Amino acid sequence: MRAFRAKVRAHYRTHGRSMPWRETRDPYRILVSEVMLQQTQVDRVRAIYGTFLDAFPDVDALASAPLERVLAAWQGLGYNRRAVALHRIARILVQAHRGRVPDDAASLVALPGIGAATAASIRAFAFDAPVVFIETNIRRVFIHEFFPAREAVPDAELLPLVAAALDARSAREWYYALMDYGAALAQQVVNPNRRSRGYTRQSRFEGSDRQVRGAIVRALVGGSALTVSAVARAAGDDGERVRRLLGDLERDGIVQRFGRRFGIAVAGEGS
Ligand code: ADE
Repeated sequence: MRAFRAKVRAHYRTHGRSMPWRETRDPYRILVSEVMLQQTQVDRVRAIYGTFLDAFPDVDALASAPLERVLAAWQGLGYNRRAVALHRIARILVQAHRGRVPDDAASLVALPGIGAATAASIRAFAFDAPVVFIETNIRRVFIHEFFPAREAVPDAELLPLVAAALDARSAREWYYALMDYGAALAQQVVNPNRRSRGYTRQSRFEGSDRQVRGAIVRALVGGSALTVSAVARAAGDDGERVRRLLGDLERDGIVQRFGRRFGIAVAGEGS
């Protein structure tokens, strides 16, 4: 374990990555980055993070913005549901947490779109809390280093090792180092996460519902409400599928029906 820690630290000293959300201790800015990083690669987040924060520099600015502006600033990141969740979080923080990001796990996981791993990363990076958690880069490191020849490694067997390796005096830096080591491993070896029990690959984007959902949201952001057939034309897909996806987007609080037309939801009214 000592040798492992020394190796990860040495890698960080020479290959540690600089990222804008690592330059701040503002919990709001860290919250925004962690929600963006949930399902989007670092370089894509880097491209949008600064302009997003220029538009919404603090919790109050985000909470008081219309959803449509938030979705417009989110374009390029994908998975628009996260933008809706982040917007709702800002409103909850204003209403129930005096505009602050809470530092305890229970309050964080009670927020929309925040699971155990995101809550833990916010606690580590914003509050330097000595939390024990696993996300994709961390998982890759521990499988590669400690289970070189095993299949279907469950997270339950990794967690005690993550706990034993943790430098509790500087959790924030330690997890940066672990994530950077894991990201570097991804370039060097066949993905060790294939040997995680829970492993599933992200499915193809081309032609997927996810792609068409993105095209629908882009067609509606910054424009007026459209009929199903107009949305289908703008999104370049058939009416049948677009109608179904509009229903899904409506349930997710992203779009809203205005008579025969669909537009971006006016947040805060039942959604
Ligand atoms: N640095 C801080 N948070 C990170 C994350 N979620 N992924 C990669 N690097 C990070």
